[in-house]
Amino acid sequence: MTTPVRLALLGCGTVGAEVVRLLHEQAADLTARVGAPLEIAGIAVRRLGRDRGELPVDPALFTTDALGLVKRDDVDLVIEVVGGIEPARSWLVEALRAGKSVVTANKALLAEDGGALHDAAAEGGADLYYEAAVAGAIPLLRSLRESLHGDSITRVTGIVNGTTNFILSAMDATGAGFTEALDEATELGYAEADPTADVEGFDAAAKAAILASLAFHTRVTAAHVHREGITEVTAADVASAKAMGCTIKLLCIASRGPDSSGAESVSVRVHPAMIPVGHPLASVGDAFNAVFVEADAAGELMFYGRGAGGAPTASAVLGDIVAAARNHLAGVRAPSESAYAALPIRPMGEAVTRYHISLDVADRPGVLAAVAGVFARHDVSIATVRQAPAPTGPADGATGPVGRGGDAILVIVTHTAPDAALAATVDELRRLDIVRSIASVLRVEGGDR
Ligand code: NDP
Ligand code: HSE
Repeated sequence: MTTPVRLALLGCGTVGAEVVRLLHEQAADLTARVGAPLEIAGIAVRRLGRDRGELPVDPALFTTDALGLVKRDDVDLVIEVVGGIEPARSWLVEALRAGKSVVTANKALLAEDGGALHDAAAEGGADLYYEAAVAGAIPLLRSLRESLHGDSITRVTGIVNGTTNFILSAMDATGAGFTEALDEATELGYAEADPTADVEGFDAAAKAAILASLAFHTRVTAAHVHREGITEVTAADVASAKAMGCTIKLLCIASRGPDSSGAESVSVRVHPAMIPVGHPLASVGDAFNAVFVEADAAGELMFYGRGAGGAPTASAVLGDIVAAARNHLAGVRAPSESAYAALPIRPMGEAVTRYHISLDVADRPGVLAAVAGVFARHDVSIATVRQAPAPTGPADGATGPVGRGGDAILVIVTHTAPDAALAATVDELRRLDIVRSIASVLRVEGGDR
């Protein structure tokens, strides 16, 4: 009998339990693919007494001593599906330095301190795999890390958070407000009891950092990512988007290009944005994820699928386990971190984008000229202007520009400009007394298609 590859499984929750199930159900195929059986040496959890249903595993394998399990001599690979920064970082650094390859789904840790894991992997001569950390089941990271390594990626635009995509899709489909759509997402089990990480964009920002690091061969952390969530997106914003032939998505956008001094740099941002309904990302509904990659030679590529959930995430974890186990048996290593480019991060103010601004203004002579003057002062070029009477009641304004009372609604869409100039324009507009309120400000992306 071939010597098995022994796994330490850290965590047995939503993802970990599915990893256990798949290891059991597909044992014969996995053995054939790896060249040796995959055997669970131990499972670290927080609560030994937790009811885990009909899990096909010996209860004696459970322990609360994760570090002790990682250090055991009979452990070959460490699979971490616990999450969070500590103690996960200490466990994984310990494993990697000892030459034990790691498979992790921990996007928070990779985005906060992926460098510590990569350094430990290099030190110990071990592999670090993390396909499940971004976009769940979608085979995206290996494509960036290996398949596209001969190309030059210029931009990655993605919907990488299923919860917020579900909420925004529901708002678009039904006209519901944010709170109503969040309640629905919670009822259906998409949103967690504390949805902060999702709706405030922290989860997407962590994934954006990981994507940018791989795409541009440089270290990007969550702290480098400009982040805005979707809590401020209103039903009126969604209606404005529709009137423009657009939909609103929480996008992660990572791009490579020159900064204001001409030096090559990386810009990484997460924020809600309008995209035209004809854009490939616009039709990505419910809790699905999709990532659009632009590369010099390959052109445009689209990756689509389930970005979360126990089984889809476990599928990605299992793929990594097979790869790490094969390498272990062959005594070889996977491609190590590629961060040679060491590019600086471009500030958000230098990101080039377009704005859609909906203003509630006094309807009298000179107002349009005054508003246009503000744009001109900040060197922002206006692409389109629409004016409509302000709606008179709740039944009014379901289509076309939507306002919240006042004399007229101005809807202005700009040409591209640096984000700092657009933000300064909006700031000055807010201070004009002819502007009763600014009903909505949203970035517009993907308008060139
Ligand atoms: P869960 O909360 O469902 O499970 C976490 C597991 O970790 C539980 O088994 C828990 O033990 C265990 N655990 C927590 N603290 C400790 C500790 N100190 N020592 C030992 N074990 C501990 O998380 P998920 O399965 O949802 O997520 C796991 C990872 O996968 C996270 O990094 C997450 O970001 C990532 N991920 C999750 C996705 C998803 O759809 N759920 C999608 C993509 C990535 P116990 O069971 O006793 O409570
Ligand atoms: N909370 C995340 C989401 C889980 O909604 O996409 C996957 O990382």
